[in-house]
Amino acid sequence: MGRGDPSVSAYEVGYWTRPSPWSPRSWSRKVWIWVGTGIVVVVAAVVGAVVGVRLAKGGGGSYPNYSRLNYTLIDTYSGTSFFDKFNYFHDYDPTFGFVHYVDPDYAATYNLTYASPSTAIVRVDTSVGPDSDPNASTGRFSVRLESKAQYGPGLFLFDVKHTPYGCGTWPALWLTDTSNWPTNGEIDLLESVNLASSGRPTIALHTTSGCSMDDVRREMSGSVEGGHVDCYNGTDNNAGCAVSGPPATYGAEFNERGGGVVALEWRVEGVRVWGFPRGRGGDGKGVTAVPPPEGGMLDPSSWGLPVADFPGTKCDVAGHFRNQSIVVNIDLCGVLTEALWEGSGCGSVSCHYFVANRPAEFKNAFWEFGAFQVYKAL
Ligand SMILES: *[C@@H]1O[C@H](CO)[C@@H](O)[C@H](O)[C@H]1NC(C)=O
Ligand SMILES: *[C@@H]1O[C@H](CO)[C@@H](O)[C@H](O)[C@H]1NC(C)=O
Ligand SMILES: *[C@@H]1O[C@H](CO)[C@@H](O)[C@H](O)[C@H]1NC(C)=O
Ligand SMILES: *[C@@H]1O[C@H](CO)[C@@H](O)[C@H](O)[C@H]1NC(C)=O
Ligand SMILES: *[C@@H]1O[C@H](CO)[C@@H](O)[C@H](O)[C@H]1NC(C)=O
Ligand SMILES: *[C@@H]1O[C@H](CO)[C@@H](O)[C@H](O)[C@H]1NC(C)=O
Repeated sequence: MGRGDPSVSAYEVGYWTRPSPWSPRSWSRKVWIWVGTGIVVVVAAVVGAVVGVRLAKGGGGSYPNYSRLNYTLIDTYSGTSFFDKFNYFHDYDPTFGFVHYVDPDYAATYNLTYASPSTAIVRVDTSVGPDSDPNASTGRFSVRLESKAQYGPGLFLFDVKHTPYGCGTWPALWLTDTSNWPTNGEIDLLESVNLASSGRPTIALHTTSGCSMDDVRREMSGSVEGGHVDCYNGTDNNAGCAVSGPPATYGAEFNERGGGVVALEWRVEGVRVWGFPRGRGGDGKGVTAVPPPEGGMLDPSSWGLPVADFPGTKCDVAGHFRNQSIVVNIDLCGVLTEALWEGSGCGSVSCHYFVANRPAEFKNAFWEFGAFQVYKAL
């Protein structure tokens, strides 16, 4: 090892020949004080990190400040013009369903979308049987609506009077930017497949990488679904970060009581979803329990525990969610429905056979809505 050896640095060469700054014997009192302080800081940081992780796991740790915002109504979907604010998606299903999404003319003619002053209905065709012409041998007629407007953060209320269910169905009420997925994110509010017998909808976010609910403090009444806490679409085959809503917030029992209002608050601090089921009134359809506006303004910060909480602790919400359209659809078969077909109680025939040949089984496969309202923070 001579001077010419490039692997030996000048510093190494001098190590034995003069007091090394790394040798305690050469340290002055000042250095000792600095080293002592350094050790204390390192120990404190390690202890802090361990305790911090414990707190996060145990429900402590950092949490967004979901303080009150002042919301103003900016858009309403209601009455006979309900469907005017939507585009009818009319192309091959991106999720590989056994479905033909119809255009507005077909939907109106066959009553697959129907609006009255008080209600809007979106349904799967129940008229086409095996002997019809055309028949449903390449998929059944259904509807997929995408709002013409795209929204930023805000408060969204959806009055849902009836949720669709039935073998072979995959209905969803959700938000996304259909032409920039998953870059601009996806927020699923109500999603279910087949008979929805658990009565618990899936509520989920889907994003590009870097948005996670792993090990973060959340305050919600729903439960993490299938251990899925990474919202990144490349994880768990695009399961998203998913939450199961409480029982009876989807399907037959939910419909029985007249449904309820689903509320979404999307803000930079996080995304939260509430459900306010209707009570059982004299006619079985009592009024909904959405807390009335305080001082004329809806105030989610006073609503108590949401059904689902997606805090921004490990997710840059502003960076992952933009330009969201409201989407309402009822897919048939498709990736998720077929994956869960076995054990769904839908018999021994295939999903495609069922959808093609049993029109009468789709009589509960309809959405019924009151109004949708969109609020923006001033
Ligand atoms: C949350 O934010 C509000 C409004 O900015 C503020 O008044 C309040 O003190 C904050 N709360 C906490 C716990 O930081
Ligand atoms: C909401 O409005 C109230 C009353 O005008 C005001 O005091 C408060 O600062 C506003 N909050 C926000 C977040 O803008
Ligand atoms: C369309 O559906 C609505 C709601 O179910 C119903 O009231 C109406 O009579 C139907 N219209 C036709 C032409 O069948
Ligand atoms: C369904 O329609 C297709 C195409 O029009 C036809 O080839 C087929 O025979 C029909 N199926 C039945 C059961 O009629
Ligand atoms: C996730 O999104 C990327 C980008 O669009 C896409 O290439 C990929 O196929 C998606 N993965 C899944 C499982 O959906
Ligand atoms: C959101 O939409 C606006 C208006 O259409 C567009 O200008 C903007 O580029 C979009 N933003 C992103 C991130 O896609």
